[in-house]
Amino acid sequence: MCGIFGTTLHKGKAAPVIHQALERLEYRGYDSVGLATIHDNKLSIKKDQGSIKDVDSKLNFDELCGKIGVGHTRWATHGIPSFENAHPHMDCKKNVAIVHNGIIGNFIELKSELERKGHIFNSRTDTEVIPHLIEENMMDEDFIEAVRLAARKLEGSYSLAAISTHSPELLICVKKESPLVIGIGKNANFCASDVSAFLPLTKKALFLDEDELAVVKSDKIEVMNFRTGQDIQHDISEITWSTEDASKSGYKHFMIKEIHEQPLAISNALRIQNIYYDLIASKMHKAEQVYVIGCGTSYHACLAASYLFSKLAMLQAKPIVSSEFIEQYGHAINKKSVVLAVSQSGETADTLDALRFAKKMGASIFGITNVMGSSITRLSEVYIGQNSGPEIGVAATKTFTAQLSVLTMLAVILAEKKGSISNNELEIMKKMLLDVPKVMKKTLSTEVKIKKLVKRYKDKSSFCFLGRGINVTTALEARLKLLELSYIPSLAYPAGESKHGFIAVVEEGYPIIFIAPKDGTYDKILGNIMEMKARKASTIGIIQAGDEKLKQLLDDYIEIKDGSMNFLSPLIYIVPLQLFAYWMAVERKCDPDKPRNLAKSVTVE
Ligand code: M6R
Repeated sequence: MCGIFGTTLHKGKAAPVIHQALERLEYRGYDSVGLATIHDNKLSIKKDQGSIKDVDSKLNFDELCGKIGVGHTRWATHGIPSFENAHPHMDCKKNVAIVHNGIIGNFIELKSELERKGHIFNSRTDTEVIPHLIEENMMDEDFIEAVRLAARKLEGSYSLAAISTHSPELLICVKKESPLVIGIGKNANFCASDVSAFLPLTKKALFLDEDELAVVKSDKIEVMNFRTGQDIQHDISEITWSTEDASKSGYKHFMIKEIHEQPLAISNALRIQNIYYDLIASKMHKAEQVYVIGCGTSYHACLAASYLFSKLAMLQAKPIVSSEFIEQYGHAINKKSVVLAVSQSGETADTLDALRFAKKMGASIFGITNVMGSSITRLSEVYIGQNSGPEIGVAATKTFTAQLSVLTMLAVILAEKKGSISNNELEIMKKMLLDVPKVMKKTLSTEVKIKKLVKRYKDKSSFCFLGRGINVTTALEARLKLLELSYIPSLAYPAGESKHGFIAVVEEGYPIIFIAPKDGTYDKILGNIMEMKARKASTIGIIQAGDEKLKQLLDDYIEIKDGSMNFLSPLIYIVPLQLFAYWMAVERKCDPDKPRNLAKSVTVE
């Protein structure tokens, strides 16, 4: 995720307008920033790694002249935060400047094609193919058609804004999957990743649909479908949000916005190039011992991964919380060990400590993280950037399901390498994984029922979550979410363990939440539900849609449509439980974005 902004003014300077808009978009990314304007038919750019404030105090953005320009605040996906990788990006002749949010899935192929034609690249980003593609097209076409043809060649998700010295009055915007909205001002128009960027300037907005291209002048906007070239007419919307509301896309908190962003975050996570998976899978395949380490939610992703590696690839991987890694396995680590670390921030002290130790012992280190350029990316031989964009809420939500998606893909590729599943099974699994965003969208509609459930159970002083198999992970993660957001002391167990102690605390009305998809663990979890009912517990189930037996048995249930996801079930079944924790926090007047005593990144051991 990044923030993009563009403007074309009838008169005045674009740079200060862009600069202030980027400040309102900074929550979308803050590792690098840049602006480009056109003045006297020349493109000028100021950009660098760092926060807007720091880069501006060095470069003074507002000095740039010109009535038209684009700006970008970056959250690195391809290439570390650096001057070269900061946007805007330009073509070889410096006639075109581009800002982009999203991921270009086919950039490797496009880059080699363009390099063969003589284009010189200066960055490691996927974005840089776009200005070069436009430059190539401009040999035969005008600027608008050159952008349209380029957009048709791109795969992946992209919203972009482009300007060119060839048509210095035009701001061209393209939208596919990533957000982009046009702001309609008086003698000035804007484009931005979200309306918060231009709210102090105008309340009138035009929301682009998928595959649309807008040609924006200071007094006119034309929209077309960039695939068919067909003109499109859009209604103009009046925005009633405040700037603060708008940065949360109208949601009350970042956390709920991030929960709803999960289908996109997973699509983006699944766009990672196979080469990284291959490199990690090859090493894991040959290793004598594999450890998967992380803290908090990231540890839960590790635990799920250990089930997946074993079930799909028949590989034993030991999941362990980072802070216990050295004590428990330190003596066993050597150069035949592989340590795969999972950390959203890439800066968690316990995880880094374990990695540094393992590295010293000669182990191969791999990482999965959301923050490019973080310490984990520097410690790892190979790392995967999960592409979730910044997560502002302290509770991990979209980054958890994105981590799980990456780890599932890794398990599938590992299985392919090991030949542990047939080609047919492999294809089915990949297809199911790619369908997760669609299923998740449907699952998010459980929110209405979840809110009612929260009202019913809001005064309970403790909850217990029970799951079996890979959904032990879901139970643990659901407990962590409820605990950290609502401060309700809660428990979570592998359901089979509940008889070995926990059952002693069960009394009439004690709420127990079962994660109960119809997989291989179903009959046993049914038995556990009966045991708890016999003790008069309140039983709540996250169940597969149409499971009449459980619907009869449970006091309350949430049905998951297309819930037969088997090895993918934690990805889907966690969603209503994230919503449960969020709405419980709201109901109990706790701030879900900033739970007490917690920090987003725990950099002390
Ligand atoms: O940045 P990391 O993924 O390494 O962070 C690990 C934990 O601190 C983090 O998951 C924490 O448990 C969250 N508050 C969970 O919502």
